[in-house]
Amino acid sequence: MYKILKKEQLSEVVWLMDVEAPLVARHCQPGQFVIVKKDEIGERIPLTICDYDRERGVITIVFQPVGVSSTKFLELEEGDSFQDFVGPLGRPSDILDMSEEELKSKKFLFVAGGVGTAPVYPQVKWLHEHGIAADVIIGARTKDLLFFEDKMREVAGNLYITTDDGSYMHKGVVTTVIDENVAAGKEYNHCVAIGPMIMMKFVCLTTAKYNIPTIVSMNPIMVDGTGMCGACRLTVGDEIKFACVDGPEFDGFKINWAECMKRSQMYKTEEGRAMLAYKEGKSHHGDCGNGGDK
Ligand code: NAD
Ligand code: FES
Repeated sequence: MYKILKKEQLSEVVWLMDVEAPLVARHCQPGQFVIVKKDEIGERIPLTICDYDRERGVITIVFQPVGVSSTKFLELEEGDSFQDFVGPLGRPSDILDMSEEELKSKKFLFVAGGVGTAPVYPQVKWLHEHGIAADVIIGARTKDLLFFEDKMREVAGNLYITTDDGSYMHKGVVTTVIDENVAAGKEYNHCVAIGPMIMMKFVCLTTAKYNIPTIVSMNPIMVDGTGMCGACRLTVGDEIKFACVDGPEFDGFKINWAECMKRSQMYKTEEGRAMLAYKEGKSHHGDCGNGGDK
């Protein structure tokens, strides 16, 4: 059992929990995720790790209750426990593979959209701890949905905040800030965008104009997070990948966004899953089960 040490509402729709999970905290790296299950009958929910404290053995998760299972997380209070908390899973962010020299040569831009602000934080914090100051753009639809402003400011080089409705700071979506920064003479040579799929697609279209290589996190298309269900299949360049085992981060310029978005919509219904299974055969990872037939 994995005890909840802290429960905090970050915005109208977003919650944070600190969970006691010493083994995960000892080994996890920025970019990785955990699978959380409330109880015996709960669904497995993949959530990107938002922060970790190796000494205290604590993992921070941030989630937006959308389905029944993640909404039921809210029934748990401080002192209660999750039945399962499995991880760390997925590949760490590619910043972890960079040499000190390479890190210093990079001019990093992180683009965080809505709930995607949570998984951006550990990467920017990791860079800060390694002496690298990254620029960060946080986009929220409105001021009340914004969170982590102070936390991010502590670790970011420059922080730009934008709201779609102009209720706080800059008015507009995140891509308008990218355009404005570049027009103002800012130079970037590595972008990481994490947020809703539509945002990641449009960030890639924007950064492509300026030849800024862009990494995205495909957590939104994951379902079981273990390579078995086939939900997170995507085409990257000319290869078939699975976000949960080959990612979650990929080169955003190589992703077939149209296919990915269509597939993700189809996967939501039984009829859609049956059609995917018919068209793709056993569409799970490694051809080891019947995930595509679900
Ligand atoms: P949202 O819809 O409120 O959008 C957040 C921001 O993204 C907006 O304020 C805007 O600045 C930007 N954006 C949205 N559409 C855009 C467009 N077409 N062009 C340019 N910018 C655009 O986001 P939300 O409701 O917080 O997002 C929820 C989604 O985020 C879920 O689908 C969830 O799966 C996903 N998510 C992704 C990750 C990840 O790892 N990629 C992590 C957590 C959540
Ligand atoms: Fe099920 Fe990746 S989330 S195969």
